[in-house]
Amino acid sequence: MERVIIRKGGKTSLAILVREDAPVLYRIINDPEVHKYLSSPSRIYSLVDEYEWIDNAANVFGQAINFAILENETGQTIGVIGINPLESDGKGHIGYFLSRDSWGKGYMTEALSLMMDFAFHTMNLRKIYTNVYESNVGSRKVLEKNGFRHCGTMIRNHYIPGEGYADERTYEIFNPNFQ
Ligand SMILES: CC(C)(COP(=O)(O)OP(=O)(O)OC[C@H]1O[C@@H](n2cnc3c(N)ncnc32)[C@H](O)[C@@H]1OP(=O)(O)O)[C@@H](O)C(=O)NCCC(=O)NCCS
Repeated sequence: MERVIIRKGGKTSLAILVREDAPVLYRIINDPEVHKYLSSPSRIYSLVDEYEWIDNAANVFGQAINFAILENETGQTIGVIGINPLESDGKGHIGYFLSRDSWGKGYMTEALSLMMDFAFHTMNLRKIYTNVYESNVGSRKVLEKNGFRHCGTMIRNHYIPGEGYADERTYEIFNPNFQ
């Protein structure tokens, strides 16, 4: 199937989500190693949840904008990255996850830079922020490598299965070209 590519990098691309992504995302998001660092670690996602999410939420402009992350080499969907412009003052909350077998290849560092380009140039957001648990070293590095600043930490803020209550860092970055 031909994908609609929104941004293309050397290793990864951001594409509009399609219903065919649902079974892949269903597998990835239910992996305990993937969802233990997400906001609802005990939630079990059904295949129907994934279809509904893609149909109703994922591509609605003006609300959350989520893209499939494709591996350029294979064309396969390997994860999701999205921005939720929750506030009316030009802020967006970013979130992302990747299939476990795609970790450690520099994919999310690149996918985040592509998403930042979309957020800053196409959406003209003023700033992007996100929350990351102290122990999620991979995600912290992804953010720091993309210029995000650690601007505060909430102590014992969220429960992570197998780890207990974790400190949670907030990271932010401003759009240098905001108009
Ligand atoms: C966090 C996550 C997105 C990282 O994606 P990734 O594509 O593996 O990250 P990259 O390969 O771009 O790695 C960036 C850096 O982090 C390091 N890194 C990646 N995973 C790591 C880990 N588990 N522990 C320590 N370092 C790690 C890499 O070695 C690299 O460092 P380097 O450039 O100095 O070599 C991925 O592990 C994931 O999806 N995790 C589960 C979901 C999640 O945590 N989402 C984010 C919630 S805030």
